[in-house]
Amino acid sequence: MSTHADLLLINGTVVLPEGTRQADILVKDGKIHDIGAFNPTMAGEIIDCGGLHILPGVIDTQVHFREPGGEHKETLETGMKAAAMGGVTAIFEMPNTNPLTTTPEGLARKMEAAAKAPWTEYAFYFGGTAANSQNLPEWENLPGVCGVKIFMGSSTGDLLAATDEEVEAVLRNGRRVVAVHAEDEAMMIENKKNILGNSTDPAMHHIWRSVESCVSATMRLLRLARKTGRRVHVLHITSAQEMEILAQNRDIASVEVLPNHLTLSAPDCYLRLGTKAQQNPPIRELHHQLALWKGIRDGTVDILGSDHAPHTLEEKGKTYPGSPSGTPGVQTLVPIMLDHVNKGSLTLERFVDLVSYGPQRIHQIANKGRIVRGYDADFTVVDLRKKMDITNVQQQTKCGWTPFDGTKVKGWPIMTIIRGQMVMREDELLKPIGEPVRFRETLKMAG
Ligand code: DOR
Repeated sequence: MSTHADLLLINGTVVLPEGTRQADILVKDGKIHDIGAFNPTMAGEIIDCGGLHILPGVIDTQVHFREPGGEHKETLETGMKAAAMGGVTAIFEMPNTNPLTTTPEGLARKMEAAAKAPWTEYAFYFGGTAANSQNLPEWENLPGVCGVKIFMGSSTGDLLAATDEEVEAVLRNGRRVVAVHAEDEAMMIENKKNILGNSTDPAMHHIWRSVESCVSATMRLLRLARKTGRRVHVLHITSAQEMEILAQNRDIASVEVLPNHLTLSAPDCYLRLGTKAQQNPPIRELHHQLALWKGIRDGTVDILGSDHAPHTLEEKGKTYPGSPSGTPGVQTLVPIMLDHVNKGSLTLERFVDLVSYGPQRIHQIANKGRIVRGYDADFTVVDLRKKMDITNVQQQTKCGWTPFDGTKVKGWPIMTIIRGQMVMREDELLKPIGEPVRFRETLKMAG
């Protein structure tokens, strides 16, 4: 090889598509130039990754960063900082901001704000509604768009497509990923009146925001997906029943789960954390959690996202159900899941499948998500043996807390490398160099 490379990662154990093995990685012009055994004189900079694992960059496909409209909770800058600190190299941000991201102007505003301090690569979802559905085929292909998001049930913000007609209108327009929050709005309105009533107990959260409501919305969604011939990506699955249904519908639906639902369970989480465990769809009992793990092991689950949804402690301190739903998580995704790897709940390779290969495959990301020649040199370098306590103080999120405060984990992100540049090393943020994530071209239909 005649060309001189920019960076050489040596002595690391690398998770490659064909298996995990010791290898050096040569980086040139921000791309993976070669993988093998190389002479150190071949690169300008050498990083010794001895004792560490080199994973493809972790892509968090579900975060809420609150800008515009909720900058007191989080900004694009603080959210991306938290991501980079947690070993995440790219984020896909949700449209339930204020104003909603339902117009090209809304998207442009986010793209501009993100470019000011881009601690990670980034892309944004368009909010899909009946009102903007006709425009989605054009708008979903704007640079920086990772897909379209539908809320079938109310959560934080005003985005809602609650009826079959509204959901169908969105599904009929466009070809990119449609990511769906599947809780049944009509059932939840009834349940809130009849089941929650005047209770102020956060432990009621998973009871009135019921499994039946999630199952109903998911069944309706699958029926509409078949009717319209549009594939759907069903977000944050929480119950055994949905997992069973989705396992039977692999041809039309992909599946996301969250670290919180794999780690916490009712009623304990509500007794211990109160409204800090309040999120939508809710954290449920242990037998549901075990069914989600089964879905991880048997391949039903495609993607793991954090659903980072920060609210201030003051807001969370309001009396339930006046307290907002959502918990921060982008910075704790990697350590929490590496701890599960160390406990034997999943393999390191399956983790990589859920946070790199899965996002690449489902969203058709161009040049990211795998350690192969020619791809972007995005790496999450981790120490599987490092034991740490997760604490509020470490958190870069503007809301300043985590539901995992005081949790001991084994496994920690050591470096966040984006296109060959060091963004975080040993819990220190270095420089923001992120760009919009690019996606493979959608081939236009002939005629
Ligand atoms: O708990 C949640 N919080 N679930 C969502 O779907 C939205 C999120 C938020 O934006 O706060």
